[in-house]
Amino acid sequence: MTPRRSSSPRAPPSNNISVKGLTRFHRARKRHVVTSQTEHKCVLDSCRHLKQEGFEVTCLPVRPNGLVHLDQLGAAIRPDTGPVSVMAVNNEIGVVQLLEEIGRICREKGVVFHTDAAQAIGKIPIDVEKMGIGLMSLSGHKIYGPKGVGAALYIRRRPRVWVERQMSGGGQERGIRSGTVPTPLAVGMGAACEIAEKEMEYDSRRISSLQERLLNGIRARLDGVVVNGSLEHRYPGNLNLSFAYVEGESLLMGLKEVAVSSGSACTSASLRALGVDEDMAHTSIRFGIGSKEESKLQVKEMTNNENVDSAGLEIMNFVSLPIFRFPTIPSLVKILDLNDFVLLLEVFLVNLSSS
Ligand SMILES: Cc1ncc(COP(=O)(O)O)c(C=O)c1O
Repeated sequence: MTPRRSSSPRAPPSNNISVKGLTRFHRARKRHVVTSQTEHKCVLDSCRHLKQEGFEVTCLPVRPNGLVHLDQLGAAIRPDTGPVSVMAVNNEIGVVQLLEEIGRICREKGVVFHTDAAQAIGKIPIDVEKMGIGLMSLSGHKIYGPKGVGAALYIRRRPRVWVERQMSGGGQERGIRSGTVPTPLAVGMGAACEIAEKEMEYDSRRISSLQERLLNGIRARLDGVVVNGSLEHRYPGNLNLSFAYVEGESLLMGLKEVAVSSGSACTSASLRALGVDEDMAHTSIRFGIGSKEESKLQVKEMTNNENVDSAGLEIMNFVSLPIFRFPTIPSLVKILDLNDFVLLLEVFLVNLSSS
């Protein structure tokens, strides 16, 4: 993938330039934007701003597996549609959208396909030609590139995609974005892309096998484990699971040895869009597999079989605590505030260990 043009913002500014910039550039003829309910907040917020300016926005629901319904997408596109913005890999549930099919529909209908590929670049193959991508937002630090500025926006040159600049200034980057590009960071991101491309195939095999091992290990020991989002169309480094009867925050706090996150599980737009009920959404945990996050280096990253196995064991031990098998506990979790619940849990554990 060779960007025809690049700018230097991170993914949110790139998403803003793409969604708002393209829509506003064509404001005389295009009054409509299509996106999906599981987009990153910066895309959804950009759409909300456009709505306030009088543009129309169709925010497509997704299927229970997290994929955009292609027929609904095709039907939503109108003669006055500007961008269709659908993210490549979902940051909360890891679902990979059908990019080639979405690009084909956009091409047939003559609209620009923008994809937020912050979670996709360097992890899954992206071919802007085959996928009919007109605009693509990237983020350097997701592939161990420099933090802060090391990111880019791909803008197609043929056929040319036009965007209105969203920031006043000196007209750098051919008027797309003012501000001097920090060369070391741009070079750093280029190097990160190069390395990620070389390692993608090997990493993908390694991470898929770790994901399978983790999921099989957990499922072999526990019932009531639900994978949120499609398993088939998923970046394997993101496994989002719900555990019946266990509140995600409690599980998160109970797991001391492994790096997991509940993200914004209780308010997760993606999980809600999938139709996951509130109880199960509250028990959701996102396992980041195969990657190292600087802030979490004190805990075991799931980068090898040993760590994945011990993660499965730790989860099983925690979820199997009698407290979670007690039928009134789920209701307690709902009634009590989290701190009270954790306090109760600690008292219970102390009693359990001294009995
Ligand atoms: C899909 C997606 N878009 C945008 C962003 C924001 O990107 P940045 O980290 O460059 O601010 C993220 C961050 O996690 C993301 O996952």
